[in-house]
Amino acid sequence: MHADFFAGGAGEERTLRGNLAAYDRLRIVPRVLRATGERDLRTTLFGTGLSTPVLVAPTAFHLLAHPGGEAATAEGAAAAGTVMVVSMAATQPVEAIAAAGGPLWFQLYPQPDLAFTAAVVKRAEAAGCRALVVTVDSPVFGRRERDLRNRFTDLPDGLACENMRDATGRVRTVEMDATLGWDRLARLREVTGLPLLVKGILHPADARLAVEHGMDGVIVSNHGGRQLDGAIATIDALPAVAETVGRRVPVLVDGGIRRGTDVLIALALGADAVLVGRPVLEALAAGGARGVQRRLERLTADLDHAMALAGAKRPAELTPDLVAVAG
Ligand code: FNR
Repeated sequence: MHADFFAGGAGEERTLRGNLAAYDRLRIVPRVLRATGERDLRTTLFGTGLSTPVLVAPTAFHLLAHPGGEAATAEGAAAAGTVMVVSMAATQPVEAIAAAGGPLWFQLYPQPDLAFTAAVVKRAEAAGCRALVVTVDSPVFGRRERDLRNRFTDLPDGLACENMRDATGRVRTVEMDATLGWDRLARLREVTGLPLLVKGILHPADARLAVEHGMDGVIVSNHGGRQLDGAIATIDALPAVAETVGRRVPVLVDGGIRRGTDVLIALALGADAVLVGRPVLEALAAGGARGVQRRLERLTADLDHAMALAGAKRPAELTPDLVAVAG
């Protein structure tokens, strides 16, 4: 039941499969004799220096994967020199996660209760989170058929979304809010000075609106195929979004990234960095903090290797002409 929760997607899982299949259709057109020497994968986002452009996507319920929970993931991400985005549906308190690792960003589903939303943001900020990732692809829950079949509705006894505790200590449920609009993101600005990223952008018109509304970053995502089944593969959506944003703010992408060559293609098509979800969950389940660290380091080493073979010293040298659609 829990493995299905981690692996599954919405509906027929077309988008889940599509995210992977889209990378399969793309090929790298390498450059030669570029004398790259050692590659340099260091990446700076919102003033934080990272050793890799591969970040940890926000995912729920890490205690279902490993007894170390989100703290183990944070430890692994920190050891790999990258950011972990803590899910609002984390099963450990953000303070405990921050004590185990960092840098952290915090993912938010804005709640209908604005005062409670503000309190959660303040709490994440006080715990040391350096950016806020607002997930906007979830006005309602995706229909995940594996979870429906398995009747997976609640966490087991003893586990809870620890960052949803209100002033009385009661744990609130994470609500999806179909009344969410750009006005509410503007209000978040009044609550926090942290950089604000919107996660779940696929249409270039929304990328334009994000920039116009002063967002600090855009994450091209279809929630790993868990929300709208039939949504476009993220790597297919990325070029138009990147072109619209025009380097005014960082553009990140997630969904289906499993190899360094996938990262290379995403960076070439306009991403400043990528995030990985399920690979981290699988590594956490199999090997705890060390497993997460190794998986992230492997992806980065794989990217480094691919960049050497494609003739790029730095991520910024990866350009769209290095990618072609397979015949
Ligand atoms: C997610 N994702 C997610 N996103 C988010 O904004 N808040 C969340 O709480 C979660 N929870 C979550 C749980 C699980 C089990 C998965 C697999 C995913 C989506 C996640 O951030 C990311 O968009 C995708 O996981 C990226 O796709 P890949 O890398 O899993 O293919």
